[in-house]
Amino acid sequence: MPDRADDVTAPAILAAPGAGPTHPRSASVRAMETWDAIMARRNVRTFADRPIPQADLERVLQAGWAAPSATNRQHRDFVVCTDRAQLEALAQVWQWASHVATSAATVVVVAPAPEDKRAGELDQFDMGQAVMAMAIAAADLGIGSGHASIGDQDKARAVLGVPGDHYCAYLLALGYPADRPLAPLHRLDRRPFDQVVHRGQW
Ligand SMILES: Cc1cc2nc3c(=O)[nH]c(=O)nc-3n(C[C@H](O)[C@H](O)[C@H](O)COP(=O)(O)O)c2cc1C
Repeated sequence: MPDRADDVTAPAILAAPGAGPTHPRSASVRAMETWDAIMARRNVRTFADRPIPQADLERVLQAGWAAPSATNRQHRDFVVCTDRAQLEALAQVWQWASHVATSAATVVVVAPAPEDKRAGELDQFDMGQAVMAMAIAAADLGIGSGHASIGDQDKARAVLGVPGDHYCAYLLALGYPADRPLAPLHRLDRRPFDQVVHRGQW
């Protein structure tokens, strides 16, 4: 896919396809095909003690930024954390978020308090799209990702300085998998495909 060089709002890193060291493709990782990246993404909860190159982290964030949203409302902000003390504090906002502590970086998805139920539902859907885009962009670069919910809203807000009229919705921990490199999976823990996909009729 060509980079979006014609989009004047695109960050500089996107507006310079092939431009030497600022080109968003990682120099160190051979990029996967889209299908392989989709099939290689898995929930990673143990991370190697290895930082993510800044250009690769920017690439992941740009995937979230570029994700679609209902009426293009873009009700989501991303707070990216790489400071170890901050990551350890974030790991305590939810009982199943311990993997955040050892991530190389964690993206916190933040949304405005919704005006009503419908708006809240749309925001949830749109945040899911942004998170999935980031997870696939990460997989494309060999970077694992692991979701986490947020239970202690006050603590998350305090750690990040998020104002009271916004809430912290989800965490996406990022880092190189400690167990094995990402590779396309051939057996997925999913309901049978033909049970999930209905063709024409339920
Ligand atoms: C909305 C959402 C919230 C999740 N919350 C957590 C969580 O708090 N902690 C965690 O370890 N995994 C969390 N997960 C990861 C899922 O458990 C995981 O994606 C699922 O088991 C499927 O595994 P896979 O991602 O390896 O395909 C979450 C996933 C989603 C989509």
